[in-house]
Amino acid sequence: MSLSFEGRVVLVTGAGGGLGREYALAFAERGASVIVNDLGADVKGGGKSSAAADKVVEEIRAKGGKAVANYDSVEDGEKLIQTALDTFGRIDVVVNNAGILRDRSFARTSDMDWDLIHRVHLRGSFLVTRAAWNHMKNQKFGRIIMTSSAAGIYGNFGQANYSAAKLGMLGLANTLAIEGLKYNIHCNTIAPVAGSRLTETVMPPDLVASLKPEYVAPLVLWLCHDQCQENGGLFEVGAGWIGKLRWERSQGLIVRKKNQPMNPEAVRDKWDKICDFTDATKPFSVEESLQSVVNVLSRVDSEGEIGMNSTASASGISPTEAVGKKLPPTTFSFNHSQCILYALGVGMSTKDPDHLRFLYEGHQDFSCLPTFGVIPSQDAMMGGGLSTIPGLNIDFTQVLHGEHYLELYKPLPTSGKLNSQATVADVLDKGSGAVILLDVNTYSGDELVCYNQFSVFVVGAGGFGGKRSSEKAKAPLPPPQRTPDAVVIDSTTRDQAALYRLSGDWNPLHIDPSFAALAGFKAPILHGLCSFGFAARHVLKQFADNDPSRFKAIKVRFVKPVMPGQSLQTEMWKEGNRIYIQCKVKETEAVVLSGAYVDLYESSDASLEKISQGGGLQSELVFAEIGRRIKDLGSELVKKVNAVFGWEITKDGKNTAQWTIDLKNGSGSLHEGPYNGKVDVTITVSDEDFMEVVQGKLNPQKAFFSGKLKVRGNIMLSQKLEVILKDYAKL
Ligand code: NAI
Repeated sequence: MSLSFEGRVVLVTGAGGGLGREYALAFAERGASVIVNDLGADVKGGGKSSAAADKVVEEIRAKGGKAVANYDSVEDGEKLIQTALDTFGRIDVVVNNAGILRDRSFARTSDMDWDLIHRVHLRGSFLVTRAAWNHMKNQKFGRIIMTSSAAGIYGNFGQANYSAAKLGMLGLANTLAIEGLKYNIHCNTIAPVAGSRLTETVMPPDLVASLKPEYVAPLVLWLCHDQCQENGGLFEVGAGWIGKLRWERSQGLIVRKKNQPMNPEAVRDKWDKICDFTDATKPFSVEESLQSVVNVLSRVDSEGEIGMNSTASASGISPTEAVGKKLPPTTFSFNHSQCILYALGVGMSTKDPDHLRFLYEGHQDFSCLPTFGVIPSQDAMMGGGLSTIPGLNIDFTQVLHGEHYLELYKPLPTSGKLNSQATVADVLDKGSGAVILLDVNTYSGDELVCYNQFSVFVVGAGGFGGKRSSEKAKAPLPPPQRTPDAVVIDSTTRDQAALYRLSGDWNPLHIDPSFAALAGFKAPILHGLCSFGFAARHVLKQFADNDPSRFKAIKVRFVKPVMPGQSLQTEMWKEGNRIYIQCKVKETEAVVLSGAYVDLYESSDASLEKISQGGGLQSELVFAEIGRRIKDLGSELVKKVNAVFGWEITKDGKNTAQWTIDLKNGSGSLHEGPYNGKVDVTITVSDEDFMEVVQGKLNPQKAFFSGKLKVRGNIMLSQKLEVILKDYAKL
């Protein structure tokens, strides 16, 4: 149904020409009784004439409409309303449209230029509207339009007076919208663009001709209709387009700490964050604005030294909203350069001949280091994806990478395109902070290549009443209580962080001294994931012969920072296919990676392949199985056997492998390689004879007496070998 204004009395100020005339004609055409107000002044507000208003009234009447002229200035607001009341008995709609211009550069703006503009636009709108207000209130209906301008919203050279008055009208409208609401008085503001005598001096003539006032009027009519519930809105309108504007506010940042004076340096230092519109909010009321500020008071008070939290975090973390949400997917394209750059970043060097397969794309076994798997996934994090998740109102400057887990399902390619999809797996409340578990699956085409779990610690974001732990978390594990089976010491270079960051972690904390100082470090620190890369390749070399296909997973907890140039000491404990690791800074003995482990694939394919190539030992498979059984039945076996067995496996007369089966301490364990603890009995046997014994084809006693099996130490214990070695025939 068409919108009718039958029975409505409409006052349009400045309706003798331009936009106002168009509104008057349009309202009248739809049945309204219109007061056509116009002082008949020139553009600058000079002169006076009744002609302009009269002409429009005539036009309306000629079309059968109802209209009356009023020649008063809007500064005589009461008189305009009186005309409405006298002629039509009521006032329903006021369109504050009258306007003039006195453009001057600010320095040349006179008192007169300032005052006149304010008197017509702001004060005039105030006086006219106030005169109508009580009538509208009593009849419980009113529609008011304020005419603002882009010059007011955005500023415009030479229009200081006009901009100020025009934005003043928006302020006036904002409050009228609130005060009028319960009386069904709605007040909205428009910022029109149209060709008129006001714009003909600044716009080319053809634009003045094409930007017709009739492309603005329909918005004004709609906003003034009783069906329209819009109130307090601001619209840009012109050429047939209408857009709505609103305020946007950055997340902001608290730059004050409890019991400490606030200072401008803190403001300076956090300026980018204060002004960062990522995850901006759209406040719309003074209550909301005040509430944010009041929330800050309580947050600073309750959080003591932590201090720097976003005002929005007052509304906090909502796990129910956040968990399960996906971050925008990311794509990572790479070739051999990135693989090599990463390998250099985690300290590989051509000094080590067996590093060449990771550093030279022409190498016959050229491979990507397994821990390169963190690189495609980190884009999901770095790209600010977390800030898109609802329910995570956190301060992104307070985010720490607490723990990391990486699992590979196949060796990484050395080039191509990988797509990553990150999901918020869980959100935990640790009191002092929150932990966000972010699961990232990385695919090559449809094939899942690797999985990363970032444990992101958000300082000061705890206390939202969430759970403390999650079954989704890949937990860190402490190393065994014994001297490590292997230790590798490796120095980082002064430029390690500068090199590592080129793989995509551009956080200035790792390169910029002043940024590092702000974060409380005396110099830029090494990336946690760089130390992680060091430790992982130490394990890969020590226990998997640098074979990336053996690398299954790694978990670490980042405990303390490493300074570029310091030496990393990786301590390793082998327990079957799990290598527990702990990483220290050698110079300070400080533990930097804890609760860490690497899981290796005991790829039987790989082992069998080695055997068929004549390189590997068949006994390896048996020991791997022994390791698994110890894990399952260790305590039981320890009770039965109570001894530590050393094994020296020979091939072609040479000692080729060394194993230790500990069935005396704790719940038992298996170690490969040199062993530091006390061994009760050591057995030396060839790989072939070992397999014969295991498969029941050769009796251990017979093997001993025939010299195939040599025993040192407590020879009686060798009788217990059967307990250990039986049932392996299937291998
Ligand atoms: P216009 O100059 O054609 O119309 C303004 C009318 O107001 C004139 O007829 C004038 O005689 C009248 N007037 C001036 N002082 C008065 C007073 N004290 N009392 C009563 N009437 C008075 O200009 P236009 O373009 O139609 O402007 C209409 C409104 O739109 C103005 O408030 C202007 O500031 C605003 N505006 C216009 C834009 C445009 O692109 N045309 C852009 C932004 C804002």
